[in-house]
Amino acid sequence: MSVCVGLDVGTTGVKAVAVAADGAVVARAERSYPLSTPHPGWSEQDPDAWWRASEAALADVADGREVVGIGLSGQMHGLVTLDDRGRVLRPAILWNDQRTAAECAEIESRIGVEHLIELTGNRALTGFTAPKLLWLRDHEPDVYGRIARVCLPKDYVRLRLTGEWAIDVADASGTLLLDVAGRRWSGEVVDALGIPAEWLPPVLESPAVSGVVRADGREHSVLAPLRGVPVAAGAGDCAAAALGVGIDRPGPLSIVLGTSGVVFAALPAYQPEAEARLHVFCHAVPGTWHAMGVMLSAAGSLQWFRDRLAPGTPFDTLVAEAAGWGPGADGLVFLPYLAGERTPHADPDARGAFVGLALHHDRGALTRAVLEGVAFGLRDSLDLVRSLGVEAEVARVSGGGSRGGEWLRIVASVLGIPLETTVSEEGSAYGAALLGGVVGGVFDDAHDAVRRCVRVSERVEPDPSAVDVYRPLHDRYRRLYPALHDHKEER
Ligand code: XUL
Repeated sequence: MSVCVGLDVGTTGVKAVAVAADGAVVARAERSYPLSTPHPGWSEQDPDAWWRASEAALADVADGREVVGIGLSGQMHGLVTLDDRGRVLRPAILWNDQRTAAECAEIESRIGVEHLIELTGNRALTGFTAPKLLWLRDHEPDVYGRIARVCLPKDYVRLRLTGEWAIDVADASGTLLLDVAGRRWSGEVVDALGIPAEWLPPVLESPAVSGVVRADGREHSVLAPLRGVPVAAGAGDCAAAALGVGIDRPGPLSIVLGTSGVVFAALPAYQPEAEARLHVFCHAVPGTWHAMGVMLSAAGSLQWFRDRLAPGTPFDTLVAEAAGWGPGADGLVFLPYLAGERTPHADPDARGAFVGLALHHDRGALTRAVLEGVAFGLRDSLDLVRSLGVEAEVARVSGGGSRGGEWLRIVASVLGIPLETTVSEEGSAYGAALLGGVVGGVFDDAHDAVRRCVRVSERVEPDPSAVDVYRPLHDRYRRLYPALHDHKEER
């Protein structure tokens, strides 16, 4: 059977899927890897671990199938530094790493906030790639001095897979070095930051061919059967997830409940926001853009709660306990800022909190507060997306957290809009597979892929009585961050 394959290089592991021409997922494989936090607020990973995991997952899904095209997706913003022989210089610094506040301030003062937004559509945020490079310049000059090339996580996998060094417009948008309107590197920003332009890979549109699985030395490799298969440029995971749930043009929003939480709206045209409270990036469909809000700990908050406070307990058990409490968990509110927060606060030092604890609260109440706190954070992004004039009437969900019915009911009620799930729940990996299908000749383009493959499976409506409870609770939630800010200042 001929299939297209999508590979998502995520934060907790890689996922590969093989997709038939009618959109059916015929194989899936996952491999996980660790994340290291050598200092509080730092987040790093070993690029070779991505490669080993990718190789194994690709071999699994390709086994016995005719693969006609591969698409790549991955965690955005992560900085991989390579020397002149293509060797990795240090662990990659990831999207949720918060060490670069000083470098962000430097970028904004050097270029000017307004001009930076004009040039890139975005502000300098700690997770983005350019400030990480300046951090290396200041703190690891030895490494900085040996850099010959840089790339993002999935692009490192591409390099190992195809020998080609390239990036797509959607992922490149999150570097802060892209002229997002023009879909090419911004010479002005690159010069202003003193970054050698030759360090940056060629920028391609997402459905373009970036290379083929390379043949050399692969005779005995598990990937030998894939030799010569074209590999699409692919997309950062947010754009790939949106494509995977059928967002190829303005219409429904895409919401991702992964480690991070994303509210994503395809835009009718490039439309930067004056204060850049949302990210405005290129979409994976040529000639289109999107706006999005990103929370740093969405399903990541639930994972933290489980791992630290209820190790070994299945998520389903926790969520069932949460369902025993009504909306608002009797006055208990959780702020999900465990790793700082991007949207709406852009504050690397923001911290999480449980507020309103009483003697009768139990583990179920705490879990409910976590699920609701994440939903309130998504609501903050939704409100910003609406302020751009986007009509947000329905959203499609993907990511690990989207599999729990109860959590989706809470999110739908907090957002006040229905949520749709799709037959394929594979999110970014599925979107990547659709791009792989375009380079493999299965689909004419991204629109054709979406039309032929993406089907809505279920619709979760907001519960009107919960909507009424959540509205004032969201106001209370929003007042807590500024109220706790003073406490943070004193730490
Ligand atoms: C997007 C972002 C995260 C990562 C997670 O801007 O930082 O969603 O891409 O994988």
